[in-house]
Parts: sequence; C-alpha cells; structure tokens
Amino acid sequence: AGFFTYDPGFMATASCHSAITFIDGEKGVLLYRGYPIEQLATKASFLEVAYLLFYGNLPSEQELDDFEGVIMQHTMLNENLKSFLDGFRYDAHPMAVLCGVVGSLSAFYHDSIDVHDPRYREVSAHRLIAKIPTIAAATYKHNVGEPIMYPRNDLRYCANFLYMMFATPCADYEPRLIAEKALNLLFILHADHEQNASTSTVRLAGSSGANPFACIAAGVASLWGPAHGGANEAVLDMLAEIGSVENVAKFIEKAKDKDDPFRLMGFGHRVYKNYDPRAKIIREVCHQVLEELADAKNPLFDLALELERIALEDEYFVERKLYPNVDFYSGIIYQALGIPRNMFTVMFALARTVGWVSHWAEMMSEPSMRIGRPRQIYHGPQVRDYVPISKR
Ligand code: CMC
Repeated sequence: AGFFTYDPGFMATASCHSAITFIDGEKGVLLYRGYPIEQLATKASFLEVAYLLFYGNLPSEQELDDFEGVIMQHTMLNENLKSFLDGFRYDAHPMAVLCGVVGSLSAFYHDSIDVHDPRYREVSAHRLIAKIPTIAAATYKHNVGEPIMYPRNDLRYCANFLYMMFATPCADYEPRLIAEKALNLLFILHADHEQNASTSTVRLAGSSGANPFACIAAGVASLWGPAHGGANEAVLDMLAEIGSVENVAKFIEKAKDKDDPFRLMGFGHRVYKNYDPRAKIIREVCHQVLEELADAKNPLFDLALELERIALEDEYFVERKLYPNVDFYSGIIYQALGIPRNMFTVMFALARTVGWVSHWAEMMSEPSMRIGRPRQIYHGPQVRDYVPISKR
C-alpha cells in the first residue's frame, strides 16, 4: 500500500539541491555557477570551465596552471586497456565501446576509491576528465583500424584530442587553431545541463556508493539514446534523408503527424520553451567556422537554416514552443572538423563527463545524501495462489 505522487518523466520533481547549473527554460537562460553561458563560451577555455564546474569558482592563473598540469598527468590509459579495446568488433558503435571502456576503468581504480573521502573523489574526477579524450579518440582509431595515438601533453586539452584523433604514427598532425577553438566552444556548451537524463542516471547510480567510473559509464549509456545525446548524430542522418531544401515542407508535415514516429531531431526540449541559448551560440559561430574550415557553402547548414525557418513559422511548433536545441547545429560543426557522424555522441559524452563528475562529487559530499529509490504505483494482479503446472 502507499500513495505516492505519480510524475512520469519527472516533469515536476526536483531530485536534489545543486549549486552547479541554473536554467530558466522560459527565458532561455543557462548559467554555470552563476556565469552566463554566452560569456564562458566566448571567453573561457574548456579546462577553465571544468575547474569552475567542479570547484565552484573560476580559477586564478596559478590554479588553472596547476589544474592543467594535474589533468595532463592522468591522460594515459593503462596498457592492458588496449587488449580490452581490441576485443570489440571493428565496426562496433563508438558509444558502445566508450560505455564499456569507461566502465572498465573501475576495474583499474577500484581499491583506491573511497567515495566518502573528498581527496579520492577529486582524483577520480581528474582521472575521468583526463582519460575520456584518450578513450574517445581510441574508440575512433579502433573503428577506422588505425593504431591508437598516445596523448601529447605539450598540447592543450582540445588540441591534444584532435591530435589523438587525426595523427598517425607515420603522419604528424598539427591541429588548426580554428578547429581547436570550435571544439573548445562545443565542449563548453555541452559541459553541464543540470538534471538531464544522463546526469540523473549518474547521480542515481552513485547514490548507492558505487565506483565513480561505473557511474559515469551509466551516464554514457543514458546519453546514447536519440532523445538525449544521440540526437546530434540523428540530426545529420535526418538532414541527409531530407536531402534538399525542396523536401523540407514534406518532412515538417511528417513530424507533425501523430501516426508517424518521425520527429524533427534537434528540436524541442524538456526545459527550454524558448530558443536553447546553446543552439543560438552555435548557430552564430557556424558561419565563421564553416568558412574557415570547409567550404563556406555547406549545403547541410543551409538546409538546417531553412528547416528552422519553416518550423518556427509553423503553428504546430509555435504552439508547443519547440525550438532548435543544442544538438541541431553541433553536428554540422563536428562534421566540418572531420569528425564522423558515429562519433558525435562520443564528443558530447567527452564534454559532459565534466558535468557528471561535478554532480557526482557534489552529491557524495552532502551529509544528507541517501540512496535514490523512487516508488511506483502498482497496477499488476492482486494476490493469487500458485497453481501447479499440470493444472494451468
Ligand atoms: N518534433 C515533432 N514534435 C515534437 C518534437 C519534435 N522534435 N518534440 C516534441 N514534440 C511534440 C510532442 O509530440 C508533443 O506533442 P503533443 O503535445 O501534441 O503530444 C509535444 O511536442 C511535447 O513533447 P514531449 O515529447 O511531451 O516533450 P518532452 O519534454 O517529453 O521531450 C524531447 C523532450 C527533447 C525528448 C523531445 O522534444 C524530442 O524528442 N526531441 C527530438 C530529440 C532531440 O532533439 N533531443 C535532444 C534534446 S537536447 C540535448 C540533449 O538532451 O541531449
């Protein structure tokens, strides 16, 4: 027995207190520790934002220097992980590999973890932030059959990631500044978003006292779905399917048809009932990035702009307050950076790891922290007697 509030999808339930990220969905406002996303995205480095999210304040020059140094110390993977990685089929989806490899880190760092000790929480966060680009690039190398590149600690975080992705032992690679800048921006925009499905998953997994590496793997799994982080990959699949501007209207009609499962990917958001501020920033820089990186006349970008224009004039989308979200334009930039479509959600996971570890550490530091244990409203059969199999 018991009467509980029924709130499917947690539309009206705050699962925790948090001091990390603030969203005003009606106004389209996003703040990390009080700082507007627009300022951080254009002025800060990703590790500066990582420091801010994890520790609560922007670092001084010395603090950032030390933090970068600590992160660099942890970028390598245990060599044994290479054999684990080799066990996956060459064509395994990089998110499947990421999920497995991140989870497997708990096998390497289990005994050293005392989740109730803040020093261990900190070092686990450092390890995760440092190793996730190495793992992400390794999933790509596995996919394309190239040898894994070891991290270059003389490079900055985003430049090092691009290096591990695109260098090979026989061809060096110097990341272009514009590519590094674009990545820095996208990573900042993806770094945290309060209690989304994957962050809530990390918190719920962590609330039992589980190893943080296993908890982050749970976050990766939750992010993978097309209603969440998988949307950035789905957007480009959708744009490719639409093909040209003439077909936009037809697809808009499909998205409105309730008998058709098709939805406009990269549109709509549980919290934003206004333009997603992250999408606004990406849309603005898209022009510049595409101009410098690829050809300025990117047909997919034109198609996306047209799709947005028509949708935002349509009563269906206006009434439901469905606007482009962060995933709508991010894939176009990732594609211009040479990152393949099946890696887009991995990129999201890489950046969101910072948010995940910050939330996990925040939750674990609360004296009142309890295991997350939602209730249910039972609607199965009432009590009945067992019938022997011969009589059924
Ligand atoms: N295309 C067409 N109709 C839509 C869409 C869409 N993309 N999104 C919502 N709707 C409709 C939905 O059918 C419903 O209509 P009605 O009231 O007539 O039944 C109404 O809008 C409300 O939608 P909902 O599904 O109840 O809203 P939700 O808050 O449960 O879902 C969402 C939010 C993001 C899952 C959903 O908008 C969606 O599936 N969008 C497409 C996938 C996507 O872009 N996801 C990325 C989200 S942002 C970044 C991230 O989290 O990774």
